[in-house]
Amino acid sequence: MTIEDLKKQAAEKAVEQVKSGMVLGLGTGSSAKYATMKIGELWQAGQLADIVGIPTSEGTVTLAAKYGLPLTTLDEYALVDLAIDGADEIDPQLNLIKGLGGALLREKMIESATKRFIVVADGSKVVEKLGTRAPVPVEVVQFCWKTTARWLESLGCTPAIRGGESQPYVTDNGNYILDCRFPTGIDHPAELAAILKNRSGVVEHGLFLGMATEAIVATEIGLQAMQRP
Ligand code: A5P
Repeated sequence: MTIEDLKKQAAEKAVEQVKSGMVLGLGTGSSAKYATMKIGELWQAGQLADIVGIPTSEGTVTLAAKYGLPLTTLDEYALVDLAIDGADEIDPQLNLIKGLGGALLREKMIESATKRFIVVADGSKVVEKLGTRAPVPVEVVQFCWKTTARWLESLGCTPAIRGGESQPYVTDNGNYILDCRFPTGIDHPAELAAILKNRSGVVEHGLFLGMATEAIVATEIGLQAMQRP
């Protein structure tokens, strides 16, 4: 079984929870895309009716539009019934690192407004401690981003500008991303999240704490369902 098979299995299992009439958060990334595609197929086949999707990135807008899925925004629907999205790391408490796909700001806005948030992933994303596998993506304004990078460094991480200095990656919101690698992982995620959130120049960070309600993780030996403790 390939890694793509595992991502697809997890995503399609989560889509079993989608019901007609729901407001859906549509995630971003190589795992979440399988959920959007399955929702699109069910919609086209008439097996789901009266659903609306809130995409977490311009890429997801494009994908969902291929299936003719009705799309909307948080401005129209303040509460989302169910969001399905991937993650870069999942810890045993279902705290996450997200944003290697670049969509962390919109993902966090939409997934914070969600009654039920199912994370879909292959088994490689499960970690004991956040920050041991993935860097923490931090979305920062372009203005004086090197100043923000220096400040991030003072927190004990090594920040790298995504895309490289000569051609930085620009998010859907017009910002840069600094991928912050913590050499021994993150000991106190909630404290770090609060510090990051409080800094001018930081737009959002990829620590998604206490947000996911469930995770569906696919491995070679089958699907594992995780619940927030
Ligand atoms: C998008 O910004 C990200 O948060 C993704 O959801 C996350 O990086 C997981 O992506 P993959 O499923 O592609 O690994």
